[in-house]
Amino acid sequence: MTSNSPTDLDRVRTRHRDLASRLLPGGPLEHYVGGEWIRGTADDTFTSVNPTTGDPLVTVHEGTKTEVDRAVEAAWDAFDDHWWDSTPADRQRLLQQMANRLEREAEKFAQIEVLDNGKPITEARQDIDLAIDHLRYFAGAARNLEGKTVPHGDLHIQTVREPYGVVGQIVPWNFPLLLAVWKLAPALAAGNTVVLKPAEQTPVSLLTYVREIEDILPEGVVNVVTGFGPETGAPLVSHDRVPKIAFTGSTEVGRGVMKAAANTISDITLELGGKSPLVVAPDADPERAAETAVDAMFFNGGECCSAGTRLFVHESTAEEFVPAFLDRVRNLQMGDPLDEATDIGPQVSRAEVEKTLHYVTLARESEARILTGGGTVEEGLLAEGCFVEPTVVADVAVDSPVVQQEIFGPVEVLIEWDDYEAMIAEANDVDYGLAAGVVTNDLSFAHRISRDLKAGNVWVNTFNRLPPGQPFGGYKQSGIGREGAMETLHEYTQTKSVTMAFEE
Ligand code: NAI
Ligand code: MG
Repeated sequence: MTSNSPTDLDRVRTRHRDLASRLLPGGPLEHYVGGEWIRGTADDTFTSVNPTTGDPLVTVHEGTKTEVDRAVEAAWDAFDDHWWDSTPADRQRLLQQMANRLEREAEKFAQIEVLDNGKPITEARQDIDLAIDHLRYFAGAARNLEGKTVPHGDLHIQTVREPYGVVGQIVPWNFPLLLAVWKLAPALAAGNTVVLKPAEQTPVSLLTYVREIEDILPEGVVNVVTGFGPETGAPLVSHDRVPKIAFTGSTEVGRGVMKAAANTISDITLELGGKSPLVVAPDADPERAAETAVDAMFFNGGECCSAGTRLFVHESTAEEFVPAFLDRVRNLQMGDPLDEATDIGPQVSRAEVEKTLHYVTLARESEARILTGGGTVEEGLLAEGCFVEPTVVADVAVDSPVVQQEIFGPVEVLIEWDDYEAMIAEANDVDYGLAAGVVTNDLSFAHRISRDLKAGNVWVNTFNRLPPGQPFGGYKQSGIGREGAMETLHEYTQTKSVTMAFEE
């Protein structure tokens, strides 16, 4: 890890300010409702912060139930007036155009993501590329929404997949534009209109993207209301005219979304937390395993629901693996996320820094050993931003919150194993089941462990790879439903059976 000298701070501040003034519209940014930019009735605003420098980035209007109601109404008007009559071709064309616009300005959107979220530019580019690819995938999928016929004597039964109408979508801050696209694309492809709320920490990329595509969006089909969870998100997920809700975020809030949906019997997709194991098999090549483990854990600064946060290393490889792994972790470059060489940018907010450090403190207070990292940086550029050192802890009790709960920062828990059955039991012994991974060249081992791990995604010799078409979602308390795939399209539809009797 490297840190910078105090003079670098001025240079970085200037660089970020210049870029922001070049790329971002002046605030306060407004809600997008019914094809128009509107202010909140209360005219309250909040500030999105640049977590690298701690500077305010732009102010944004704060939505309330009033704006949510307006957006839901506009979305229903659009659905009833014209979007219901849209053809798969119309929807495909829209999604393709959305992809093309994003591609044309890909670097700009990657830079905006860096300014608002703090993720390294190299990773922000991957987000945008994936978002483009998802738009194209669902542009194709829009043409494949088919029903079936069911033979039954004198009855002719056919099924049609119909959109719900208005879908409410809540997005978090770790992949701001990518996760917004993950939600928008299948909902639109299936013929729904949308009211979406981005996270209060990172609303800028989506709002800027909507400006970019305003002229191609049919009126009222996409509506964006910005604001905080309880004030803006809650009225959306509990709205009696929103029959389908898709949420990504914490399990705690997800539980609340599920309860709210119960009142109106709304359908839900939940993509929640994780505490994913990565297993290093006895036969694994230590260098390759170390590389995979670093990617699995420290990609996006650990702010990744699928992150491989519990690293199970077979004791026969530990002697070679652990030093190789720690070497790589220590060599991760923390710094200005606009620098091409930066591996780890800031966490998204002070709150996330505090949350991460809380778990490090718990580890310190127990018998655990901190093998590397464990702190923030006190000097130079990194002292101003929300930086947490990449951290690895070992010898943590299995029932410790450090092992059981989602930290969502760069903290890896290292665990040695020798007995397969005991390792599997421990790997599965958390409330979450989002993802898991294994590094091995032994095909039988890969098959066996893929079957034994209770998770919605198992990666073998890779991690965090999610091309469109690969369903993504969780077992257990990691969620309900799958995103990014054909079944996602189906989850944005409801089936109508039309049963016709013939006269004798
Ligand atoms: P959060 O779950 O509070 O926020 C996610 C989104 O939900 C945001 O848009 C937020 O405004 C909205 N929201 C919050 N309360 C709501 C409510 N009552 N009704 C409707 N929407 C609501 O997560 P937060 O506070 O940003 O992060 C806390 C922890 O949650 C993180 O440390 C991490 O462990 C987890 N998390 C998991 C994510 C994932 O990808 N699965 C993403 C973000 C956070
Ligand atoms: Mg921000």
